[in-house]
Amino acid sequence: MNKKKLLSDYIKKIKLLIEYNKSYYDANKSLVTDKEYDELKKDILILESNHSFLDSKNSPSKTVGFKPSKNFQKLPHKVPMLSLSNAFDKEDLVNFEKRILNFLSKDKNFNLSYSTEPKIDGISASLIYKNGKFKIGLSRGDGKEGEDITANLATIEDIPKIIHANDFPEEIDIRGEVFIQNSDFKNLKHKFANPRNAASGSLRQKNSDETKKIPLKFIAYTFGYEKGLKINNQVEFLQKLNDWGFKTNPHNKLITGVNNLLINYSKIEKNRTKIDFDIDGIVYKINDYELQKRLGNVANAPRWAIAHKFSSNKAISEILNIEIQIGRTGALTPVAKIKPVNIGGVIVSNATLHNEDEIDRKDIRIGDLATIERAGDVIPHILSVDKTKRDKKSTKFIFPKNCPSCGSKTIKEFNNVTKKEDAVRRCASEGYECEKIAIEKLKHFVSKEAFNIDGFGKKIVENFWKLDLVKFPQDIFKLDFEKIAKLEGWGRQSMENLKYSINQKKNISLDKLIYSLGIRHIGLENAKILSKYFKSFSKFISFSKSTNQDDILDIDGIGETQLKSVRNFFDNKVNLNILNELQKNLYVKDVITKDKKGILSNKTFMVTGKLNGISRAEIKSLIEENSGTSVSTVTKKLNYLIIGDKPTKKKIDKAKELQITILNQNEFLKILNIAS
Ligand code: IVH
Repeated sequence: MNKKKLLSDYIKKIKLLIEYNKSYYDANKSLVTDKEYDELKKDILILESNHSFLDSKNSPSKTVGFKPSKNFQKLPHKVPMLSLSNAFDKEDLVNFEKRILNFLSKDKNFNLSYSTEPKIDGISASLIYKNGKFKIGLSRGDGKEGEDITANLATIEDIPKIIHANDFPEEIDIRGEVFIQNSDFKNLKHKFANPRNAASGSLRQKNSDETKKIPLKFIAYTFGYEKGLKINNQVEFLQKLNDWGFKTNPHNKLITGVNNLLINYSKIEKNRTKIDFDIDGIVYKINDYELQKRLGNVANAPRWAIAHKFSSNKAISEILNIEIQIGRTGALTPVAKIKPVNIGGVIVSNATLHNEDEIDRKDIRIGDLATIERAGDVIPHILSVDKTKRDKKSTKFIFPKNCPSCGSKTIKEFNNVTKKEDAVRRCASEGYECEKIAIEKLKHFVSKEAFNIDGFGKKIVENFWKLDLVKFPQDIFKLDFEKIAKLEGWGRQSMENLKYSINQKKNISLDKLIYSLGIRHIGLENAKILSKYFKSFSKFISFSKSTNQDDILDIDGIGETQLKSVRNFFDNKVNLNILNELQKNLYVKDVITKDKKGILSNKTFMVTGKLNGISRAEIKSLIEENSGTSVSTVTKKLNYLIIGDKPTKKKIDKAKELQITILNQNEFLKILNIAS
């Protein structure tokens, strides 16, 4: 086809899409079926991906919300939908409260009150209201963007469509759980394994008339973004939700102190079966919004909340085999293959054995009858084995001393923090030399939090590896697509889709790229920190030649462990080659230091001594929120040294010598306009 014809074809398709969108969004009327709409979108995207001269500002690749999706359209959450960290026992709760008190710099007698809310095991949803009207409903998705399931959510009676209350905010994103009551699930048993699957399946129906037939319920418990909400604490908010016509959990309570949390936990756990919906724990949220705000979030979860999980379901089954899995960092993890058994509605055939020590301690052997426990979304594990029922001929399990994949020696490292030998045994190979590690590294590279290549899942990694198509990350960007189209199970269309997804990810941010490399001890947070430090991919690559590698220790959050691991990574020639090849094939965006808006932008800070009423962690997040950087050593790059009670004299002397501005706590807070 010639260029002119391609261009006119492309423009025609874009015009058609605009017309469909207009009618759908302005007139609430679909001019075509969802399938036709999705196909048109896909056509446009494929045209663009094959012919770089095709470009339009109205293209679905440029407009938010018009990204390609298999079923539902994806839309970003204005405020991310976070997950919760878990607590399993009293110790976890005590530590949770301690961490909070430390962060807030309160003493241990300070009374913290919690809104306690039984955790419904359903599907979370976000409901956007504007001027009292229910406008858009999204699924959680990956927490950053969800699927537009408005039509399905609108079939749920518990979700108010119009709210007249005077104090209902002008705009608000109400969040809660969609679920099915156990009594209603009885009639759906033949179709789904458990109520949660039933809820999720019905919410993902393409046809909302089908969803309507399922008795879905909705309970509200939090909000995302809002405009005009005037409220001071969670209990007050839950009350408001009721006033506005939402259902809330009737077992919610305000409780102070860990001991009282435990009493309530036991009571609810005992009565669990009497409640008509499945709960898998209790969520504890710091009640006071002012404190919640100060506490903020860590990575994907708020610091101010935790889910206290109920003990789970158990079952007994036979251990058929013990296999050794090799992880991306070389850890050898034993996994028990068990005779499939139904534990609380889920068929379990694998259970983790954690590590070599665990097998030794519990004397777990092949052929044993084992008690297996499964708690919600946590991987099933073996509690104990029945030694009395054991075959006389059974022998102790011997953990391999060589890597089952590449034959290298395995080692147990010495942990500098605990001063003990690690419980985990590792393959001593550096990475891509060991087949299993290489495959796991590639799986990590394409995974959701990393490159997130649509349609390039674990199975494809394994398949392409076997076929010698992908051995290293860079191979993904140099694939022979004609060859793929001819593979069994593939065709032109699926090949085009894959090509499109891969091409889309050639533009990537530096932090994502660093995270994708799977360097040990460099998770999402550290990858972000390093990307801000290096600023560009070339600077990151030249770390291997840098004579000041130790400088990264100045970054708050990077310690000896991380430095050692980054060094190890760069010492390996295979890794250097990967970096060079990726540089040739990708466009890695430079990190632009954040907007000039933040009052502390381009300034570095360091604290010495104890501050009054504010913890180190809180000061650090205050600095970062205001676009400053917090560092951990006094060098000439430091702009301000903040001193508290009993500061380190050496640091002050060094700062004076380097003529660094010294501030006390109040002077610092004054800069932020929050001095007392
Ligand atoms: S608050 C910001 N409250 O738990 C914290 N979540 O693991 C997250 N959930 O995706 C939301 N009951 O599906 C919150 N009373 C409750 C909840 C609750 C159940 C679920 C929700 C979320 C998951 C987090």
